[in-house]
Amino acid sequence: MQYLLASPLLLGSDPARALEELLGPEPGTGLLPGCESPPRELIEAASHAIDVFDFQPVAKRNLTEAHYTYLSMGVQHETTLRANRSAFERFQLRPRRLVDVQQLDTSAEILGTRLSSPILLAPCGSQRAFHPEGELAVARAARRMDHGMILSTGSSTPIEEVAEALGRAPWFQLYTAHVWPATRMQLRSAEEVGCPAVVLTVDIVVPGAGRDRIQRYRRAENPECRSCHGSFAGDAMRGVSSAARTVGLDLEGWIDNLLVLDWDYVDRIRDGTSMKLWIKGILTPEDAALCVEHGVDGIVVSNHGGRALDNGLSTIEALPGIARAVDGRVPILVDSGFRRGTDIVKALALGASAVCVGRPYLWALAAFGQEGVEAALGILRAELAMTMKQMGVPTLGSFGPGHVRHG
Ligand SMILES: Cc1cc2nc3c(=O)[nH]c(=O)nc-3n(C[C@H](O)[C@H](O)[C@H](O)COP(=O)(O)O)c2cc1C
Repeated sequence: MQYLLASPLLLGSDPARALEELLGPEPGTGLLPGCESPPRELIEAASHAIDVFDFQPVAKRNLTEAHYTYLSMGVQHETTLRANRSAFERFQLRPRRLVDVQQLDTSAEILGTRLSSPILLAPCGSQRAFHPEGELAVARAARRMDHGMILSTGSSTPIEEVAEALGRAPWFQLYTAHVWPATRMQLRSAEEVGCPAVVLTVDIVVPGAGRDRIQRYRRAENPECRSCHGSFAGDAMRGVSSAARTVGLDLEGWIDNLLVLDWDYVDRIRDGTSMKLWIKGILTPEDAALCVEHGVDGIVVSNHGGRALDNGLSTIEALPGIARAVDGRVPILVDSGFRRGTDIVKALALGASAVCVGRPYLWALAAFGQEGVEAALGILRAELAMTMKQMGVPTLGSFGPGHVRHG
């Protein structure tokens, strides 16, 4: 039989089809083992999505080319973007057997906040470019599904409105201003709304650096893009604050100089706010140790979804060293490339308290608005629960490095 199967004469030009004719489809799947999945078709409703990737082609169809490019791009050759996904394949899961997993608990407590799921919505700017309801649709979905939401400085919806839609204040992601009074104003705005945490992003030192594709759009002066969202800086300040708060502040070019950021600036922010301080964009154990030394409350291991520095480290590979350096002293979040329940489980086993997702919910937003975001979160939750059961892990606290092998 093996001899026959190996014979090119028998198989002709399409070995897969010939095999299927010979053996019949794999029972129950209609597929032969090892065959490619059937081609994805454009789904017509959020409820038709089987995994989060199903939202991507619908987002592509719905968005202008410029907006879809902004959503999906990495930087330069996009090696970091690809590394974020391919690195997951180098980690294998080590399931434990015969554990009672009837009662699954996926809730996570992060710095005093209890969440029913360890999947948070990463801060992503300009969400009205993806759907007319933008951040409001995302906040309503996060509220309905009980997920944590981090609102970007570059939000296209004022923070007060987002808080109302979310039913509580979101965590606030901060791109610092070049002048301290403006940064202080940003912090005050978030505090007044009641944000429990501020997430300082430190991996975009030079805004737009290496975003070749956007530069090409700008050069072409893509009119559809310019008419829908003006300058980023203008949007950003509008997003975090009502106009009244910015009166008297010189905001000209405020985001064009993040080179001022250093550990002294971190100390200043930490001392200047009552919110918990997270630093987003950490990729080395050295910097993680400095975060702890400087009294930071939490660390977000992130490479900005491959949008900051090319030829960089994938975050799932950066995570274990950082977890060792931190040694449980502060909680760790991780993002960049998380698309599957198995990805999330690997991060939880390697020391993360929770993960953040970016593009999966943006694809879903662009595809079907709030309903899409809810469906995407539902899929990730279901995949996480399924994987935990398969792994014999009933609670997030039961995960440990022994559940993953790197090789
Ligand atoms: C369209 C888009 C806009 C983003 N805007 C911000 C932002 O304003 N602030 C920030 O800290 N990170 C921003 N990010 C990065 C995300 O917070 C997150 O780190 C990243 O999307 C995670 O990777 P993933 O998209 O592969 O899940 C953005 C990402 C995307 C895709």
